[in-house]
Amino acid sequence: MKPSTWMPVLANLSKGELISGSDLGAVLNVSRAAVWQRVEYLKGLGVQIGATDFGYQLKHPIYLPDLATIQSEVGLAVDLIPEVSSTNTVVLESRAEQCLMTLYQNQGRGRRGKRWIAPPGHALMLSIGVWLDCGIQDLSGLSIDVGVSLTRALNTLGVPARLKWPNDLWINERKLAGLLIELQGDQDRTFVVLGFGLNLWPISGVDASTASISDVLNREWTDCDTAFLINELQQTIRDYPTQAPFNRIKRYNEVALLNGCEVSVTGVQRSLVGIAQGIDEFGRLCILTDGGAEYVSAGDVSVRPQ
Ligand code: BTN
Repeated sequence: MKPSTWMPVLANLSKGELISGSDLGAVLNVSRAAVWQRVEYLKGLGVQIGATDFGYQLKHPIYLPDLATIQSEVGLAVDLIPEVSSTNTVVLESRAEQCLMTLYQNQGRGRRGKRWIAPPGHALMLSIGVWLDCGIQDLSGLSIDVGVSLTRALNTLGVPARLKWPNDLWINERKLAGLLIELQGDQDRTFVVLGFGLNLWPISGVDASTASISDVLNREWTDCDTAFLINELQQTIRDYPTQAPFNRIKRYNEVALLNGCEVSVTGVQRSLVGIAQGIDEFGRLCILTDGGAEYVSAGDVSVRPQ
């Protein structure tokens, strides 16, 4: 079903009011049966909608970004396409500096080939594309910098997230957000695409290892919050070439979740267990094992606290 079909239903329900099928049909100029079909489709995407004899109502509020408000506060071209394959894929292909937001990704991607999916209105999903005047080989610390930046920005908004190396954000042992950075080199320039997914509301049917903003923030997420994150992350990418490695390590240590924790690493040829020590100047995680210090790179491994 096209987003132009389901989106108006979601927008009308987004205020949280109970709306009868016939009222919704009248507003959208479609039959009650067509309203029912669209509601069923949205439920299939994971939106929790209660249906009674009196009508339809969302089971909890959702977040529908207002493009005009966000654009007015962000120093970068911003677009909102209700449904895309993956915002990272679209921005990568465009090779144009921009921020692309969406409500639903039918092929959302996570790190290490994993899928990343969220129902419309339940997560902030966006990608930021920025050109940098340096080669891919010079960007090994970028993943840490944007992870630190997102953590600090969320802390400023009152969200007590910590950074789980390399760039997942956790609250109390549960994942709140993930970042996916993809790079395309062009001689001595690189097109950086930074995508992130931030859980705003719990997703029904997803295991309890996920945290969401609604668990910790005593107010609703706003367009102002979204604009703040976009501005912070965009600036962090642009500042990267001038950042000293020493500064990176210091800033990482201020928000790191794993320092001093026993961790297990999978994805390398042999498995590793040891105590996470922090990062080196390239953003690699140092793990103190029985056999000495080992360094692991972000692309290679999955790290879990024991
Ligand atoms: C991870 O946790 O493994 C990274 C998740 C990244 C998800 C975001 S959602 C917006 C952007 N588009 C994608 O396809 N992925 C990222």
